[in-house]
Amino acid sequence: MNKIPIKFTVNGKQREAQVEPNELLINLLREELYLTGTKYGCGVGECGACTVFVNDEPVLSCLTLAASVDGQQITTIEGLAKGSELHPMQVSFLKNAAVQCGFCTPGMILTAIALLKENPEPTEEEIRDYMRGNICRCTGYTQIVRAIKECAESIKS
Ligand code: FES
Ligand code: FES
Repeated sequence: MNKIPIKFTVNGKQREAQVEPNELLINLLREELYLTGTKYGCGVGECGACTVFVNDEPVLSCLTLAASVDGQQITTIEGLAKGSELHPMQVSFLKNAAVQCGFCTPGMILTAIALLKENPEPTEEEIRDYMRGNICRCTGYTQIVRAIKECAESIKS
């Protein structure tokens, strides 16, 4: 198969790649750019572990063709911190012990940021509803919901 040349931005850096027509964004990110913070969970769009932003919108990178990000801006978990300063959502997850094995955490954090962009003051029910596509096998979700709520409150104050 002929490879497709693409140019795109990842975490603020211009990148170029030659991708197979059927190559997935998650493989481009993890295997070619070594951005392994994005996790490969189910591979079929059911766990949310592979969530990244494309033009600031959350997408499942296991269901996104790499060729489709030509000209787009990608943000992964590695792009959230500003130098040594973590994103407020990362701080809140740490503070609330919303991380155990950490496998779901990058996708959780990106989805939670997208939630607060759409709805800066979500109720617990709204948080649980918005986050329903992100599966965690460890925490039981209570600390994750608390972390998101506390982050929303810290941004507001
Ligand atoms: S790995 Fe993409 S949704 Fe599970
Ligand atoms: S912390 Fe382990 S899957 Fe969520």
